[in-house]
Amino acid sequence: MLEKINETTEFLKGKGILNPDAGIILGTGLGGLTSKIRVLTELDYKDIPNFPVSTVEGHEGKLIYGEFGKKRIVAMKGRFHFYEGYGTDRIALPVRVLKYLGIKCLFLSNAAGGLNPDFQIGDIMIITDHINLLPNPLIGPNDDRIGERFPDMGEAYDKYLIKRALLVAEENNIKVHKGTYLGTTGPTFETPAEYKYFRIIGADAVGMSTTPEVIVARHLNLPCFAVSIITDLGVEGKIAYTTHKSVLEEAVKTEEKMTTIMTELISSL
Ligand code: HPA
Repeated sequence: MLEKINETTEFLKGKGILNPDAGIILGTGLGGLTSKIRVLTELDYKDIPNFPVSTVEGHEGKLIYGEFGKKRIVAMKGRFHFYEGYGTDRIALPVRVLKYLGIKCLFLSNAAGGLNPDFQIGDIMIITDHINLLPNPLIGPNDDRIGERFPDMGEAYDKYLIKRALLVAEENNIKVHKGTYLGTTGPTFETPAEYKYFRIIGADAVGMSTTPEVIVARHLNLPCFAVSIITDLGVEGKIAYTTHKSVLEEAVKTEEKMTTIMTELISSL
């Protein structure tokens, strides 16, 4: 694994991706944030050694390096999901490469179904904790040079970044919730009974990503900050027919607010 990480990292450094401050992984329909980046380098995933390619509509598959909110960032426009058939270990590689390129924090966004009855479509939830129901990406032999065998997950989402993000949201008059995100395999959306179950076990929102990337990032000791855009509701009496298209449409509507939070937050670091 380390050889592949180093190979990809050296390739990207050779393309001019040097000393980024932060990494961003953008979720379904949320790639528009990249229009706010002053692009210095842009690469298709298919041209990057060892990178998987995104197969899902709304995930373009581009790695973008540039200036964003006074900082240098590397953005992944399009992520990899377990349901695409990638093992979680393949999902791990890009996160590890971002760390080896030098990022200090990882920012993530996703589209999610709301389980908390106080949530509405279009709301933003700052993730404060998660329940991972995907296979753990660290299963298998551990390379101690990358991270320790048994990483602590007591503060998977960085408290300082959450505090700053809440201030940024308040200053910009953006309503946000805090809550627990549950990561599941997909690709099916949930049955009403599954939504109910996820709520009972403590989740406020459910989606098909993010938890593997955060686990890999914490293994690398990388502070994480993540937000969910609520694109549909898994709340009894409010469950409507959900499609990938409806998720994309709702995500795009809230993207501007999420971008403001990310820009201001990253600038302030
Ligand atoms: N369930 C799972 N994943 C999702 C949902 C959902 O309701 N909405 C967006 N991603």
